[in-house]
Amino acid sequence: MVDLDFKYKDLLQKLQKEAPFKPDISLILGSGLGDFADRLEKLKTISTTSLPGYPPSTIPGHEGKIHFCKYQNKNVLVFQGRIHFYEGYSLNQCILPVFITHKLGTKKIFLTNAAGGVNLDFASGDLMLITSFNGINIKKELTDLIGITNINSKIKFHDFPTESFNNIIKTAAKNKNISIKEGVYWYNKGPAYETPAEIEMTGKLGGDAVGMSTYHEAVFAANLGMETASVSLITNMAAGISEHKISHEEVTETANLAKVKFENLVKEILALI
Ligand code: HPA
Repeated sequence: MVDLDFKYKDLLQKLQKEAPFKPDISLILGSGLGDFADRLEKLKTISTTSLPGYPPSTIPGHEGKIHFCKYQNKNVLVFQGRIHFYEGYSLNQCILPVFITHKLGTKKIFLTNAAGGVNLDFASGDLMLITSFNGINIKKELTDLIGITNINSKIKFHDFPTESFNNIIKTAAKNKNISIKEGVYWYNKGPAYETPAEIEMTGKLGGDAVGMSTYHEAVFAANLGMETASVSLITNMAAGISEHKISHEEVTETANLAKVKFENLVKEILALI
């Protein structure tokens, strides 16, 4: 058994000592979306390198910072950067932000990511509310993780994404006049982008967007009894649909262009929760 409380004992002790509040919500910022942290009032910032056992971030655009922020009287815990399976980390490291969030007493987690568009009605720069996931590519590892950790996994059928939380996101988009697509997020391990043939299959099997994160975080959070909701920013059309080669630069450039829309949406979500 992997005892996460034991594995991350020193880290949790330090964090619990330093945390200025119990967060109302936690937010994980995906590739290129890290700037949102600067839109909130920061009470305290902790560099993940100062936390014993926290895996170092290896991806440009993932800062490795945890901010304790305030927005309209809400206590918001912001992870500027996440831990990916394709960085060579094991799943019990990848879910660390979720575990930390839970240990600080947070009941809600909002996950964001950059994703490739598979649905032909989507365009680069669109936002997509995740209505369901396909995580078949990492199901075994995830089942093993949940089976062998000491988390309270009484919940056998996860209510995730949480419908009421997704409804808040739809209302937030409506209030701010932001158009938001809805669809299925298809997880791939990466680090390589998919092949055109894989994307063709994904589309036929009901995937609307592809990405290399979020799914395991959402499942793990649901197992811990947290409410989850997730939004993808479509930073590129996926391989074979896009006419050019996909790159991390394209992902961050599009994220930059769609930043204001994303920020307005997230602020309204925080106001509504
Ligand atoms: N595929 C997988 N992950 C991604 C993509 C993509 O096309 N774009 C951004 N993240």
